[in-house]
Amino acid sequence: MNLTQNYSSYTEENHNVWAILYDRQIKNLPDKAVPEFLEGLKKVGFQSERIPDFEKVNQRLKPLTGFEVVPAPGIVDDALFFELIANKKFPATVWIRSLKQLDYLEEPDMFHDVFGHVPLLTIPVYCEFLAKLSALALEHIDKPEIIDRLTRIYWYTIEFGLFRNSDGEAKIYGAGILSSVGESKLSVSEESVKHDFDVQHILDTPYIKETFQSQYFCIDSYEQLLNSLPQLREALVKLRSKLETV
Ligand SMILES: [Fe+2]
Repeated sequence: MNLTQNYSSYTEENHNVWAILYDRQIKNLPDKAVPEFLEGLKKVGFQSERIPDFEKVNQRLKPLTGFEVVPAPGIVDDALFFELIANKKFPATVWIRSLKQLDYLEEPDMFHDVFGHVPLLTIPVYCEFLAKLSALALEHIDKPEIIDRLTRIYWYTIEFGLFRNSDGEAKIYGAGILSSVGESKLSVSEESVKHDFDVQHILDTPYIKETFQSQYFCIDSYEQLLNSLPQLREALVKLRSKLETV
């Protein structure tokens, strides 16, 4: 695992790509993202001109929720991924896409990992959910079938979650949507299918990796995520005993 960001190795093109993507989403997101994301951007001190320096980000982030962002290679296996997050270390890739592939990515780069995820790590209840969900994953890390189901919860909340506010409007808190100009527009539009957050419904719903999601799940508070963990725990225990009796 690459343990340094090696900040000085970023080129002007790298910083320029960050600036283009950042400016585009900063214009696009104010009426679409949850307010906590927009406030979080300021709290962690992100700026358009330069790629964030993880060390400086962590000086601001850690006092807020205990979370810190740690450099990771492109792909982290499930066991390491959940172990890091359960210990409040969010692994983020350090490479950034090139100018030629601004909108096409086979795997997440730092614009997704850092811009999309890190501002949310300023929300204490959200962080508690994330760390506890990861700790729960570690309890079942020996069973890929269970991890597959639990990952659906991660996917439809942390990556592609929507939040229905008290005015009934859908706002984005999922990092996969926040870092995508196209999906941020589609997800909150009337064209997308939106369900109420429901643990069993999500456990029964496979997700799409290659294109935009065909459906989203809306929470009405971050506490709802945290409060859903006992039901999730129970569902996974049932699944485990079913797998073990087959
Ligand atoms: Fe992500």
